[in-house]
Amino acid sequence: MQELSVRHLLGIKDITPQDIQLIFETADNFKDVLNRPIKKVPSLRDITIANVFFENSTRTRLSFELAEKRLSADTINFSSSGSSVKKGETLLDTVNNILAMKVDMIVMRHSSPGAPHFLSKHIPANIVNAGDGTHEHPTQALLDSFSIRERLGEVAGKRVVIIGDILHSRVALSNIFALQKQGAEVMVCGPITLLPKYIQQLGVKVETDVRKALEWCDVANVLRIQLERQQMKYFPSLREYTLYYGIDKKMLDSLNKEIVLMHPGPINRGVELSSDAADSHHSIILNQVENGVAIRMAVLYLLAQRG
Ligand code: NCD
Repeated sequence: MQELSVRHLLGIKDITPQDIQLIFETADNFKDVLNRPIKKVPSLRDITIANVFFENSTRTRLSFELAEKRLSADTINFSSSGSSVKKGETLLDTVNNILAMKVDMIVMRHSSPGAPHFLSKHIPANIVNAGDGTHEHPTQALLDSFSIRERLGEVAGKRVVIIGDILHSRVALSNIFALQKQGAEVMVCGPITLLPKYIQQLGVKVETDVRKALEWCDVANVLRIQLERQQMKYFPSLREYTLYYGIDKKMLDSLNKEIVLMHPGPINRGVELSSDAADSHHSIILNQVENGVAIRMAVLYLLAQRG
């Protein structure tokens, strides 16, 4: 049987193109399960998983929890608000106390880049990074590529532009690694202040004109402005951002071709995307959410095989 090359899913940077293919083939099977009347398999019946969230989340937390339940795992949920973290407990103590209750796997979101990597060096459980600050969000990138593969047949050779707040986005970095490992061409587009200084060194194209970016691409993955991570002003106002970088249906219809529109959520409607664009036939935003469950089932299942 094929196995992942890693015991933890900390980032796309650490996994191989073969790992990505294995996750996709496994997710194909789980997607079939999810379309059956009984959407559940006994695969992780003897596994206990803790979802440990130190940062806000809607989609990612619900999607992991549903994936775990569909695999028949036992689950517990922890969120830092209302916990003893507020009483001064360290990350390692919090997680070791959870593990003392005989937990096999930890799904963690944390505001500090590297937090799951740190944990992986100190605890025996498998760890899945559900977003570490501005660093990586590997399952989001996997479900994004899986959704491109589903809509366009393959990821290799496709032109994908990631538009918006690249500087503060973990979705952007994980997507860049994932798309490049599968042979796609990647461009980033946004105001120059929201593009990291050394981004070109990752081998991506850089564009500041959103119309040119849309004319170039097959797929546009549009990101939210991460205001909660911005300590200074990176652009004059949200209104101005929308004027220069907002995408609406009129703009999409004026292109000489069909492009696929994606967004990891949460959308700020009327800022980066107008409602008529987000809800148009170009959009696969809800397919991304649907695929998230199958992808997370595949990741948890394959990591459990590694033990
Ligand atoms: C993203 C995240 O939390 O990184 N959302 C998600 O997981 N679907 C993107 C965001 O918050 O803008």
